Amino acid sequence: MCGIVGCIYKKEPVLDFLIEGLERLEYRGYDSSGVAVIEKGALFTSKQEGKLNQLKKALKGENCSSFIGIGHTRWATHGRPSQANSHPHTDIDNEIAIVHNGIIENFQELKSELIEQGVQFSSETDSEVLAHLIHNQSQAGKIPLEEAVRLSLKKAKGAYAIAVISSRDPEKLVGARLGSPLIVGIGKNGNYLASDVPAILKQTNKVIYPNDGEIILLTADSYKVFDLDKKSVKHKVHTIEWTLDQVTKNGYDKFMLKEIHEQPKVIEAILKQRNPKGEQISFEELNIDEAVLKGIERISIVSCGTAYHAGFFIKYFLENNTDLPVDIDVASEFRYRKPKLNSKILVLTISQSGETADTLASLRLAKSKGCQILSIVNVMGSTIDRESDGVIYTHAGPEIGVASTKAYTAQMTCGLLFALYLAQLRKEMDSKSIKAMLKEAHKLPEMIQTVLKQEKHIAEIASQHAYAESALYLGRGFNFPSALEGALKNKEISYMHAEGHAAGEMKHGPIALIDHKLPVFCICPDGDSYEKMVSNVKEVEARKGLIISILTEGDKNLESISKETIFIPKIKEDLTPLLVAIPLQLLAFYIAETKGCDIDQPRNLAKSVTVE
Ligand code: F6R
Repeated sequence: MCGIVGCIYKKEPVLDFLIEGLERLEYRGYDSSGVAVIEKGALFTSKQEGKLNQLKKALKGENCSSFIGIGHTRWATHGRPSQANSHPHTDIDNEIAIVHNGIIENFQELKSELIEQGVQFSSETDSEVLAHLIHNQSQAGKIPLEEAVRLSLKKAKGAYAIAVISSRDPEKLVGARLGSPLIVGIGKNGNYLASDVPAILKQTNKVIYPNDGEIILLTADSYKVFDLDKKSVKHKVHTIEWTLDQVTKNGYDKFMLKEIHEQPKVIEAILKQRNPKGEQISFEELNIDEAVLKGIERISIVSCGTAYHAGFFIKYFLENNTDLPVDIDVASEFRYRKPKLNSKILVLTISQSGETADTLASLRLAKSKGCQILSIVNVMGSTIDRESDGVIYTHAGPEIGVASTKAYTAQMTCGLLFALYLAQLRKEMDSKSIKAMLKEAHKLPEMIQTVLKQEKHIAEIASQHAYAESALYLGRGFNFPSALEGALKNKEISYMHAEGHAAGEMKHGPIALIDHKLPVFCICPDGDSYEKMVSNVKEVEARKGLIISILTEGDKNLESISKETIFIPKIKEDLTPLLVAIPLQLLAFYIAETKGCDIDQPRNLAKSVTVE
């Protein structure tokens, strides 16, 4: 979704920061971009449809010395991608410039009022109304910019993160948020606004996280936060632990590939932090009373996309290793399906970004019904982090590739540890079995390294099937979610039509798809589901499907009927999805690479889905 940057420096020109900041937000997905600065007392705006390179070209040769500016990458909602619809938007006197992420729901009503007053609109966007409203409220500079913003926002309904500058008030950068992410960076040379930390990490690691309904007034050496009723708000300044290396490609061609390779370290760190000696599991930030956890009667998992698939695995793991019944929903359904909720239900939300609109709405719904909310979150300080009763941080570092990889396996690792923690607390598993499972879990980082060594082989398989029209992914039990995730990964970055199914469901429809041209990725590691998977693979063989099997090392049985095989090391079946994830991610990556797709920023997708 849209990315916002804003900066007010003491004495440096601001343009380079704006462009670099926007580059670091490219991962969010966008179709146009723009910047506005105050140059020699007047507003200068430049915006372009397409990638940031277009904007850079347009700005080439501009000799900008301004200390203050805002920038934006737009992901179209109201109005097609075009130069006119790109942000920043300005008022009719070209004094106010605004960038916006979110949707102003009552924009039509506000627009009609403004048109009646003689305002001419130059875009089809909802965001432009804010520029005109702020201009009206500022009364030609008589009202301070922050107050004009406050009065305007009082009229707006919907979601927003905004950054605003005015040529009448050139020493101020004003931001505000409601429902869309915005952070404030506090630096030595100036202060910043951004949608996300990577945009400002080179300049500062000190940030504050404003709450919904708050306005931020920045000068080059001060910051103030107040609410829509003008009440001043104090915020803790957080220190970000991410390093600049983590937000750059660091020698890799693509963020996605870098993040796939980071998985052994991420999982090792999670295991070491929560279970350092292989004995007790601890979660310092859990913040939910043991008595409450002992008393819960059900767990309801809610998330979207890849995080939903991680949740699906966690459901299987919880049901296999505790006595708790577990539901799982995609958040966009949960929030509208009238779930029967009460205080005995623990709602587990899972989100890399911590900002996903449907997951957040589900969390709020569950909270209003008295449920305890536990969240598995990657981004500290995100809204889901702040609104949950307890949190388990994945500490996976920034995930910048749009397709989620390391966050997925990190979520699964945190989830399985939480399940074992509950089993230990509720005495639903004997300590010997818990220890045995943990011992296996600690083998995961090294085993993932082993799987990663097959990268070349996997890339070859991928290139052979890259131009297939469709692909089928089949799995059972713990690896049914893996099949769903494998298909999602492939379709989202390579645009190949791909379907994941529970292998047992094949006969109920998907089998009709199988012919000699269809690659069928069969996930068949050793375990209780193996024999049944073999039968399903044989059914694919009988229909001449192209079988690509993911098998446990040493499996000769399925090797003979598979066109290609990928091997994973032997591990307890419950943990196989963490190994299976690696070839599935690499297959998707190399299929997309063979086809020349824009892997880190696939078409139509956004990293952080902050609108419904
Ligand atoms: C797919 C992908 C998405 C996200 C989903 C939820 O690769 O990344 O499906 O998993 O949008 O996002 P978060 O985890 O930020 O809530």
